[in-house]
Amino acid sequence: MKESEIDLKTAYRFLYPRFTIVVSSGTLTNPNALAIAWSTPLSADPPLVGVLISEKRYSYEIIKKEKCFVVNVPNFNLIDETHYVGRISGRDEPNKVEKAGFTLEVSKKVSAPSIKECKINLECTLTDIITTGDHEMFIGEIIAISVDSDIRDSWSYNIAKYESLYWRQSKFRNDVYRLKVLNEEEKT
Ligand SMILES: Cc1cc2nc3c(=O)[nH]c(=O)nc-3n(C[C@H](O)[C@H](O)[C@H](O)COP(=O)(O)O)c2cc1C
Repeated sequence: MKESEIDLKTAYRFLYPRFTIVVSSGTLTNPNALAIAWSTPLSADPPLVGVLISEKRYSYEIIKKEKCFVVNVPNFNLIDETHYVGRISGRDEPNKVEKAGFTLEVSKKVSAPSIKECKINLECTLTDIITTGDHEMFIGEIIAISVDSDIRDSWSYNIAKYESLYWRQSKFRNDVYRLKVLNEEEKT
């Protein structure tokens, strides 16, 4: 039997757990970052990524103003740091990124800083904002990629060496799931 008396506003929860990223914005001297579970590749050529941000977030106004951001991919070792930037607002804690335990570094092509501890950084310029509902899709064109050579493989990166973070909405920190994914080369 399938249950269907379910509040439609909770429909998004059936699309979890979700690959989680950290989006950094602002400048090196005035930075911010937030955790994002709602993101998606939009196009390979041109290289576009969509990041859904609620109007309530401080990052929302910063990215709208500065017109750039960096998609940083954290791994399992960065749970606490990622969780911190997903709970605390830069409006309430001006040293949020530092307090989270992240180190910032100058990006190659955008004024938004990159997160050093994240071994994958995709630098984006904001090309459009699409209102979808209670979140807005910030469309970024990726103009620079930095990937630590330690984790690089022929396709992108080796997930066994750099385990992605997946999040299931909950107040409990241990609801971050560890998904084991085999790389193609490990299967052969
Ligand atoms: C794992 C995780 C994923 C999140 N995903 C999103 C998201 O996709 N979009 C969003 O607007 N907020 C998301 N949030 C909430 C923001 O990260 C959070 O409200 C943050 O404190 C906002 O920071 P800011 O106000 O400094 O921008 C997420 C939080 C967590 C913990």
